[in-house]
Amino acid sequence: MNKVGLVGWRGMVGSVLMQRMEEEGDFARIEPVYFSTSNAGGKAPDFGGKAGGMLHDASDIDALAACDIVVSCQGGDYTKQVFETLRTSGWNGHWIDAASTLRMADDAVIVLDPVNRDVIDAALENGNRNWIGGNCTVSLMLMGLGGLLRADLVEWISAMTYQAASGAGAQNMRDLITQMGMLRDAVADELADPRSAILDIDRKVIETMRSPDFPVDNFRGAALAGSLIPWIDVPVEHGQSKEEWKGGAECNKILGRPAFRSPGSVPIDGVCVRIGAMRCHAQALTIKLKRDVPMAEIEQILGEANDWVKVVPNEREATERDLTPAAVTGTLSVPVGRLHKMAMGPEYLSAFTVGDQLLWGAAEPLRRMLGILLG
Ligand code: HSE
Repeated sequence: MNKVGLVGWRGMVGSVLMQRMEEEGDFARIEPVYFSTSNAGGKAPDFGGKAGGMLHDASDIDALAACDIVVSCQGGDYTKQVFETLRTSGWNGHWIDAASTLRMADDAVIVLDPVNRDVIDAALENGNRNWIGGNCTVSLMLMGLGGLLRADLVEWISAMTYQAASGAGAQNMRDLITQMGMLRDAVADELADPRSAILDIDRKVIETMRSPDFPVDNFRGAALAGSLIPWIDVPVEHGQSKEEWKGGAECNKILGRPAFRSPGSVPIDGVCVRIGAMRCHAQALTIKLKRDVPMAEIEQILGEANDWVKVVPNEREATERDLTPAAVTGTLSVPVGRLHKMAMGPEYLSAFTVGDQLLWGAAEPLRRMLGILLG
């Protein structure tokens, strides 16, 4: 049985991964070896009803090297800290990682098997050992729209995102709720009085949002509740944020296409925006098709692309019911809707998709890659 080292299992992505592995009975197929950055020697968890023994030191290269497979949800700093040393030590096992550190490396594959199983299989054949989860927005877009891209029907995509607080971290989710609570508490009396003036409520809300006590430090000083933040991650070139750059760079790599901005790649660009959802990312897409594909054919291609995408009819009731973070959170479903040809011409398609940022956006592609390696 394969020894599988688990690092970062206690964090947000790691916890979702452990939960999914339990649900799918994955622990029965592995010998789990738990690592910790803070509590080596302590008692390991017993996920899947399997005693985990003792926690190993996550910086102990020999202990990591004793594993056939290491799965890390510990974050990019940890990857930077141990990966090269582990490989230099001669370790030839499989490294599965949620962090972005190694994603664009030539000897790493970005894993999203419902979309790029062929790329994964070819890399396995070639002896690849580094399997990295994609950026959440990218993976969710490809789960929703992969059909059209695989059918080579897409000339370019503009993606305008609505990204949940979870993408920024667990503390940001807490801060979002705290912000919401503070806004509500500031006007509790007025809300209880149906005759109170809405503009008084509005004024008090914005005063609260702008007050120095509003918990905004984890959002670099910007309020999220009752507002939004149209910048995610650091600036890069061409006026893009890094999150926006990842859309083009990672999508093309996942699909096995030439590098972003080089001939043969699909141009993908847009504006990434943080909104007050908890853990579902959504995106509004403008897609320039290579030709005027009939709507029925588009819906069929999208809907048949994988087992999780679900085409939502472009109708008000269905959209309000099925195409929201409230409907999708905690599920593996990736609905895609608002499908219609746009006023710009018959090759211009509008789409909207929603997905759980912690499931298909983070943990599930890693869990499935582990499954592929286990055979
Ligand atoms: N970078 C993403 C976000 C999450 O900030 O929403 C991780 O892929």
